[in-house]
Amino acid sequence: MHIKDNVPCYGVVGNPIEHSKSPIIHNAFSIQTGISIKYDKILTSEEYFSKTIKDFFESNGLGLNITVPFKKKAFEIIPYNNISERAKLAKAINTIWKKDNNLYGCNTDGVGLLKDINRLNFNLHNANILIIGAGGAARGVLEPLILSKPSKIHIVNRTKINAENLLNDFIHSTTIKTNLKISYGGLSETNSEKPWDIVINTTASELNGESLDLPKLTFNPKKSLAYDIMYGSNKTSFLLKAENEGALQCVDGLGMLVEQAAESFFIWHGVRPETNKVLDEIRQLISS
Ligand code: ATR
Repeated sequence: MHIKDNVPCYGVVGNPIEHSKSPIIHNAFSIQTGISIKYDKILTSEEYFSKTIKDFFESNGLGLNITVPFKKKAFEIIPYNNISERAKLAKAINTIWKKDNNLYGCNTDGVGLLKDINRLNFNLHNANILIIGAGGAARGVLEPLILSKPSKIHIVNRTKINAENLLNDFIHSTTIKTNLKISYGGLSETNSEKPWDIVINTTASELNGESLDLPKLTFNPKKSLAYDIMYGSNKTSFLLKAENEGALQCVDGLGMLVEQAAESFFIWHGVRPETNKVLDEIRQLISS
């Protein structure tokens, strides 16, 4: 890896990494804020993950984003006392930085999702929320969703026991005091007395090229938001389904990607970049 002498170096580590939009986003933030950086894509493997991180920071690197499939692994290699509460709850790290020769970690995915939902002018207060999936991504968004005071959160997952385990584990780790009852079920258990105001797909099914075996969902056609944390040039099969079943807004996770990047940028540089224009630029880029 090559680190330039005088420009602070940042990067994103994942596998695969070629498709990553993070360099474009961080370079756009850099131009916008006048903060000069070099931001690389870094490919590694399970075996070499720890060494890749160590080498980067020993070569004067200052900050890394961590993406699929290494967020849980990043959580294991950063000293526990240097991990933010958000990342402890998510048990996953997507942002690492170096300060006084120590490495620190945070998870900005949940905040990124919430910022994007706010950008869409969707009010989560008193909302009836359905979360699909019970992996790391679902864990990461749970706390900020609870803090936005919805009326209900229901989590459904292909493997029901994973949803139960996620909830039990989360309840033991969180310091949030809430009366909110969070329920769970299998993928077929999406029935609710009221229509869903927001349904968030956090599963990796699209990424694996598999179908998501969900029953018909009940949306409120005047209000409902279907949100898929995946993004791409075409609508995901979950968003196409939600559109057919009457969701008012069907939105992919590109906004979340830009917002989580803005939060990482803020951690590293102390400046929060403006995101709307950058999101428009990236949207154009992936649709062309
Ligand atoms: P991440 O950290 O990206 O969330 P993960 O922890 O591996 O990844 O979790 C992946 C999630 O996607 C899980 O909820 C998984 O369901 P299982 O717990 O049953 O494995 C879900 N998932 C993956 N492929 C799926 C598919 N084809 N249909 C439904 N859910 C799927």
